[in-house]
Amino acid sequence: MTRRITGFTPSGELHLGNYFGAIEPAVRRQIPGESIVFVSDLHALTIDHDPAEVRRRTLEFVTLLLAAGLDEQRTLFLVQSHVPEHAELHYLLECVTGYGEVHRMIQFKEKSRRQEQIRVSLLTYPVLMAADILLYDAGEIPVGDDQRQHVELARDIAERFNAAYGRVFTVPRMVNPPIAARVMDLVRPADKMSKSVASPGSVRLLDPPDVVHHKVMRAITDAGRTVGYDPVTRPGLANLLTILAACTGDDPGRLAEEFTGYRELKQAVTDAVVAVLEPIQHRYAELSRDPGIVRKVLRDGAIEARMLAGTKVAAAKRAIGLLPE
Ligand code: TRP
Repeated sequence: MTRRITGFTPSGELHLGNYFGAIEPAVRRQIPGESIVFVSDLHALTIDHDPAEVRRRTLEFVTLLLAAGLDEQRTLFLVQSHVPEHAELHYLLECVTGYGEVHRMIQFKEKSRRQEQIRVSLLTYPVLMAADILLYDAGEIPVGDDQRQHVELARDIAERFNAAYGRVFTVPRMVNPPIAARVMDLVRPADKMSKSVASPGSVRLLDPPDVVHHKVMRAITDAGRTVGYDPVTRPGLANLLTILAACTGDDPGRLAEEFTGYRELKQAVTDAVVAVLEPIQHRYAELSRDPGIVRKVLRDGAIEARMLAGTKVAAAKRAIGLLPE
């Protein structure tokens, strides 16, 4: 049995790239006892934040994940801050992590450049991420390349703790998620769709059909006259074909042959995206009308998570010298 954990930080809005890159793979592979998904609300506090927004987004992320098909009977589903053991293990792991190790993280360098005041939590964020992973003995971490360094740090921390204090943690490894597609921004096709940067080229999971239509119709293509799939020379067009392929389960190269003009392709992309989003939005609206359901899912998830996490924290405390052996 190998556990897999996926985290979603409630900053920005979930978009199509998140859907095909992380949500859909997590929904497709739900194995009782192995699958863990959580909303990492503590991570949303590492940069300037508005408390009301974090609260609203956390609930929105939870509801959207359920609406997209996450099944709490098969996947352990929780909100990070509901399980205080995340923060508790975070501290213990800080005690086996070097300042230099976190300071050289690429994401820290990039994010701290954009902040006026750099919060200490931004520096130690990868240690909290290591705690998220090690708390549940997760062996496989399906994340994108931007998180590779953080998973490597989690490995180093686990190995170091085990070597110094005894074998407490499973050493995790990064796996490439079986993504349906790598979705790029519609107006800046060199960049991935971003949830934190507001962009007219990012299709939100809660965008109504007319907004999807508007965004897709304004997607950047090129001056060519034919439809062809070439991500290097024609990235905007390739992105549209990739999105269409992800929605329909088809092949982008083959789809290119079906279209003669950009307008026709964009219309097909709009229809396909709307067909994917509509049932999710419908279920989202239903769940939003009945907040008791979501509350219960989270309550049950936290109870189950705390049982696993509590055992792990106790083992770590024993090993590191805080509890009797
Ligand atoms: N840092 C991840 C992100 O920004 C989210 C995350 C937090 C995560 N903790 C995790 C992912 C643990 C996997 C495992 O995308």
